[in-house]
Amino acid sequence: MRQGMKQSRGYLPVLMLVVSTVVVLAAAHNALSESESGDCFWNPATKQCTPDDQIFLQPVAELSPTDTVLYEEGMKQFKASWSVFPLIDGEWGLGPTFHASACIGCHVNGGRGKTVDDASKTSFQQLVRLSLPGTDAYGEPLPHPAYGNQLQVFGIYGESLSNPVVGEADLRIDWEPQKASLADGTEVELRRPQNRITKLAFGPLGEKTLISLRNTPVVYGMGYLDAVPEADILALAAKQKSLGLNGRPNYVKDDATGKQLLGRFGWKANQPTLKQQVAAAHMGDMGITSTLYHEQNCPKVQVQCQNAHTTGKHELTDQAWNAVTFFLAGVEAPKRPLPDSDKYIQGEKLFRGAGCTGCHVSELKTGKFPMLKAIENKQFYPYTDLLLHDMGDDLADNRPDFKAGGRDWRTAPLWGVGLSRRVNGSMDLLHDGRARSVLEAILWHGGEAKKARDQFANMKKEDREALISFVHAL
Ligand code: HEC
Ligand code: HEC
Repeated sequence: MRQGMKQSRGYLPVLMLVVSTVVVLAAAHNALSESESGDCFWNPATKQCTPDDQIFLQPVAELSPTDTVLYEEGMKQFKASWSVFPLIDGEWGLGPTFHASACIGCHVNGGRGKTVDDASKTSFQQLVRLSLPGTDAYGEPLPHPAYGNQLQVFGIYGESLSNPVVGEADLRIDWEPQKASLADGTEVELRRPQNRITKLAFGPLGEKTLISLRNTPVVYGMGYLDAVPEADILALAAKQKSLGLNGRPNYVKDDATGKQLLGRFGWKANQPTLKQQVAAAHMGDMGITSTLYHEQNCPKVQVQCQNAHTTGKHELTDQAWNAVTFFLAGVEAPKRPLPDSDKYIQGEKLFRGAGCTGCHVSELKTGKFPMLKAIENKQFYPYTDLLLHDMGDDLADNRPDFKAGGRDWRTAPLWGVGLSRRVNGSMDLLHDGRARSVLEAILWHGGEAKKARDQFANMKKEDREALISFVHAL
């Protein structure tokens, strides 16, 4: 089902005509992005050709020479491998428990994570959030007493080889097939993940534990999302009521001040700023302390973890933290010349007509952004409203996160989505990576998006294809 057509650009129109009755939908919807593979990506802004693996790592235009130095430093840090004292390679500070040793290990080439189809292999570009029911005084989910708020699958060697820090558990995913039928009789095979968490080192998780699987998202265009004025996002929420939608902002804790801020990052918008997101990723995914998160991630029962030799309180220096934040703020979302074809125009019309733009808002504008003036007051096209929507039971993780309920997810930005597979081979969409294509992603939409999903499922084949090609071109 997932095999796209490997045709060169020239063949495609002819081929599309000939095979329209034969090719299954799931193959056809990849046509636009796959048809470009093999070429490099032509960037009209820089008038340069970018190799596929670099498409999601291009800087915004107009970086000053000083900006460029900081950007490069941040990119180096983003790619750097963290290691355990006193190994020679890498920055010291990894662990004591961790999920990966470099940002780029999950955000491969700046792109999304790839799920593991083989259930005998550990899944490491997806992670699992954990909590107990209830919240703390700030509305934050309560960490599991033995495993914290995220499962760490690896551990470093601690005090001695005979007394190592072990990973907390092993994470595998079993995929359960599920069928969806479209109005014209086409059947599409979907898959739903079942977490298989084994080798739990500190006892069972317990029945009450809330578990949420998350795939690694893309990280371009983060500066733009950080720089949208809050008032604009709230205005979108207010406007949506008239469309029968119920987009809501998340409000989350600013860990530096304890204040409530609008959530913007993460699948449930549970991080308020890019800067905090970056420190939280260092701590949560790699066990790297910083001036924001001083303490190693070692719940009380994890004695080896607590006794492990670590390099101190601030493994991530403020300089490195700023550099990574600046780098991510400065990574451009891929821009393409808008195809001036009938099919594209038709696709856009259908996308609007089905109500996709209610949530996937095409155009936003940045306001003030002192960190990177180059992106201030700029129009941009992310296809998100940064709001939470009830997406129905099928997508629910039933794990609330601040104001986000168990069925709520932040509208995923759609910019650049069609280039995903070219950049690192992954087109695994939605919060847990279950959808292997835009088609599958749409068919999982429920809740507030059920109407849009059903409109799509009722379209005739050519229209579905035009809509999907349009999404691939964003
Ligand atoms: C184990 C894999 C993994 C590693 C390693 C990792 N990330 Fe992530 N990253 C994720 C996942 C999964 C999410 C979504 C988390 C969520 O929503 O709960 C995410 C989210 C993000 C986001 C927000 C994206 C958005 O659209 O809102 C940014 C920015 C980010 N990570 C940066 C980093 C940085 C910087 C590092 C290195 C310090 C890093 N990540 C390391 C998996 C990883
Ligand atoms: C009610 C709001 C809403 C509407 C309407 C809506 N979406 Fe979404 N969309 C979302 C949310 C929220 C997510 C993230 C869900 C998740 O990760 O589980 C999402 C995810 C996606 C994704 C996956 C992106 C990724 O990076 O994983 C695609 C593709 C997509 N939507 C396309 C569409 C199309 C096409 C339509 C119209 C047929 C549509 N959506 C209508 C809210 C909406």
